[in-house]
Amino acid sequence: MSLGVFGAADYDKSVAQRSTVLVVDFGAQYAQLIARRVREHHVYSEIVPHTITAAEVAAKNPTAIILSGGPKSVHIDGAPRLDPAVYDSGVPILGICYGAQLIAHQLGGEVARGTRGEYGRTQMARITDSKSTLITTDIPAEQDVWMSHFDAISQVPVGFIATASTPDAPIAVLENAERRIWGVQYHPEVVHTPHGAAVLKHFLHTLANCEPSWTMGSVIEEQIALVRAQVGKQRVICGLSGGVDSAVAAALVHRAIGSQLTCVYVDTGLMRKGESDQVVETFKRNMGIELIHVDSGAKFFDGLKGTTEPEAKRKIIGELFVRVFEQHTGGVTDAEFLVQGTLYPDVIESGGSDGTAAVIKSHHNVGGLPEDMTLKLIEPLRALFKDEVRRLGSELGLPDEIVWRQPFPGPGLGVRIIGEVTPEKVAILQEADAIVREEVRLAGLEREIWQAFAVLPDIRSVGVQGDERTYAYPIIIRAVTSDDAMTADWARLPYDLLERMSSRIINEVDGVNRVAYDITSKPPGTIEWE
Ligand code: XMP
Repeated sequence: MSLGVFGAADYDKSVAQRSTVLVVDFGAQYAQLIARRVREHHVYSEIVPHTITAAEVAAKNPTAIILSGGPKSVHIDGAPRLDPAVYDSGVPILGICYGAQLIAHQLGGEVARGTRGEYGRTQMARITDSKSTLITTDIPAEQDVWMSHFDAISQVPVGFIATASTPDAPIAVLENAERRIWGVQYHPEVVHTPHGAAVLKHFLHTLANCEPSWTMGSVIEEQIALVRAQVGKQRVICGLSGGVDSAVAAALVHRAIGSQLTCVYVDTGLMRKGESDQVVETFKRNMGIELIHVDSGAKFFDGLKGTTEPEAKRKIIGELFVRVFEQHTGGVTDAEFLVQGTLYPDVIESGGSDGTAAVIKSHHNVGGLPEDMTLKLIEPLRALFKDEVRRLGSELGLPDEIVWRQPFPGPGLGVRIIGEVTPEKVAILQEADAIVREEVRLAGLEREIWQAFAVLPDIRSVGVQGDERTYAYPIIIRAVTSDDAMTADWARLPYDLLERMSSRIINEVDGVNRVAYDITSKPPGTIEWE
């Protein structure tokens, strides 16, 4: 497969025109959260690896730099460092936790090894008579901050002052206003530091003079200009999966190039109840997007006949999907570009956070794209986090049902039906699943729960309804809370909600006489059953 990726250079051109904060990543998960917090203050931020050189920093022309926390001690061999020339660049710098220790260590101060350390909520106090430019006077002299450190700064570098301390961090804040370098031992990016957002905002807007102009509106304008410049008069195709990312990407590209975009929606017959109608309604009728709706359920049921093994089912669905997609884009012979809903976390995880690595995410996460497809990629969401994509979708006029849709696996209900997949079983599961999701929504829990759905196992059990003995399927309800699907906890749904779901499913769905609730976390369970 040869896919030309929209150049980082094109992207950088537009980035150069606005304030950009570089978040230097020193490990663990801290950098992503900091980057998101910066954006909440309407300043664009980008995560860069700590190996970035001063010349590479200069090329990005940042308005400010934030050094993230990290899990290492500055004293160990191979501990990550910043190119020292960055400190002399004149760009305002804020070091957080490890970042603050690094400033002290690299500029001639001292970091004491293996002190008692502080973890969690800690009281921080202003150092009497010190004049802080970072912790402004509207912030209380004593405040709660969130700490997570072992080593502690024990001496500031020449030219720096210490302005706050905690019981086990005598220098919890260090500053050099002249050089425009500041450091905080605590974590201003976490919600457990109540004044953290105010300090970050002050650093960005006042100390570093960042322009607070990065909004979803500005993202739309910028992407429209970029897509138009990239595409010219060529045709573009986009595979819609029913999920949030491809929907928002398609809506954005459509706003840019209108009828040059053709969307393809492969209906596998394994979608949730009403989902296909909604995709057609939203994209074709409401937005006027040219949409090829391929109703291929029969093909998928045929292909799946007799197959019960989970991986074999996934493989069949994936391969069929590619074949159908290929057949139906065959008509759009002059297409040069393919839209993908790649998000920023995918870019970061693939090592492409510096904007240089090409990321090719399979469009439907099931089988990938045809091997010989020669299309250039358009990835209008590659700088955005999931919550930003949702906000962008709303701004583009997509309905809440699409924007707030739960993650849904590429193989669809095929991996929520244990054993052989048949149209009858899909119909049962669609009805039960719709009840589960509707009840969660009515209970106002939709945005707190990561996923809530129904599973149809391959067993039947005895029951009694009216005076009749029944022998029918159970439905298993699966509801989990999670931040990223890597780990998950079973949701503590209220009993009355579970009861409503249970009685509605048994009364309203033919072929079901029992409801069970899955109380397995991940690990050891996965979220899906297959
Ligand atoms: P598991 O079951 O591995 O799922 O805990 C983690 C998350 O990924 C989703 N999932 C998929 N998404 N294609 C997708 O696009 C797939 O094949 C697939 N399998 C699982 C799942 O819904 C959960 O959010």
